[in-house]
Amino acid sequence: MSEIESMKQQLAGLEAEALAAIAEAKDLAGLEALRVRYLGKKGGLTEVLKGVGKLPVDQRPLIGQVVNATKHTLGEAFENAIAHLQADVDAARIEAERVDVSLPGRSPAQGSRHPVQMGLDELTAIFVQMGFSVAEGPEIEDEFHNFDALNIPPEHPARAMHDTFFIQGDHDATRLLRTHTSPVQIRAMLTAGEPPLAVVAPGRVYRCDHDMTHSPMFHQLEVFKVDRDVSMAHLKGVLKHFLSTYFGRDLPIRLRPSYFPFTEPSAEVDIGCVLCSGRGCRVCKQTGWIEVLGSGMIHPNVLKAVDVDPDGWSGFAFGLGVERMVMLKYGIPDLRLFFENDVRFLRRIGR
Ligand code: DAH
Repeated sequence: MSEIESMKQQLAGLEAEALAAIAEAKDLAGLEALRVRYLGKKGGLTEVLKGVGKLPVDQRPLIGQVVNATKHTLGEAFENAIAHLQADVDAARIEAERVDVSLPGRSPAQGSRHPVQMGLDELTAIFVQMGFSVAEGPEIEDEFHNFDALNIPPEHPARAMHDTFFIQGDHDATRLLRTHTSPVQIRAMLTAGEPPLAVVAPGRVYRCDHDMTHSPMFHQLEVFKVDRDVSMAHLKGVLKHFLSTYFGRDLPIRLRPSYFPFTEPSAEVDIGCVLCSGRGCRVCKQTGWIEVLGSGMIHPNVLKAVDVDPDGWSGFAFGLGVERMVMLKYGIPDLRLFFENDVRFLRRIGR
């Protein structure tokens, strides 16, 4: 057999072998190995090509054509096989990464305001809408603002009732944790200098008692207004509007004579029971009424303490417990829930 014939046979054998191997290839890596084996620099085809140089010059083009044809055939076979396997790979990947768009989404855990903060915000907003401005005072107070200026002189029995936390210090003036938000009346009036003045003051207060219905720290809202000819009628009108707005319905209210050192006259304010609508239940102790806050006309001595002339000006004031108001509105049975920070409670009530 001539040299050229044997080369042709070699090429045909190589082609057949390569095509069979390509057909068998299982993956892209295997296919690449085959490409190197047959078409690579040291591959089978190159091996055959080396023999071309030994042929007489006139025969070289003939075998060249066959080599090119083989190269072309195998090249196409590789391309087809690659496209095929790549399609398999793509299909497998699409299947593996398939997203079920009909599944419900995972919503991120969302925080909520603490129920006390919610109450503070809700209550304060009602007074802001009525034109009151918001003021805050320090939680560490002195005796002047917390007691003296509020007409509670040193020997006054009301001081003992306040269960005050005193702060040990090397200051001359005694420091204490404020027992109520009423000292903000004094601070706001001293800051303003001159009435008229309408203020809502939310904040923390502290008392040295702790049981089922008392916490050593709780929150109050102080509301007061000083102007010419402010009367009990203004107090009652503001209370009625405020309480009906907060509880979301027209509630009966009742003022009962009472005593606070910083108001004269003083009144305790009741609302018709929000649970039984006045029929009588456990919460209102069968009376149909619930006490919600203390109020009154600002005592002349308080106005004098801040250099406001009680003959020219008058004012009303009231103070309420925020936790209590939130408990009544949202039906929370136990004060301690506010301070335990059980997220189930916080999520249910907080907005
Ligand atoms: N400061 C009082 C307390 O904490 C509450 C209070 C009562 C405030 C009557 C007032 C008021 O402004 O007029 O017990």
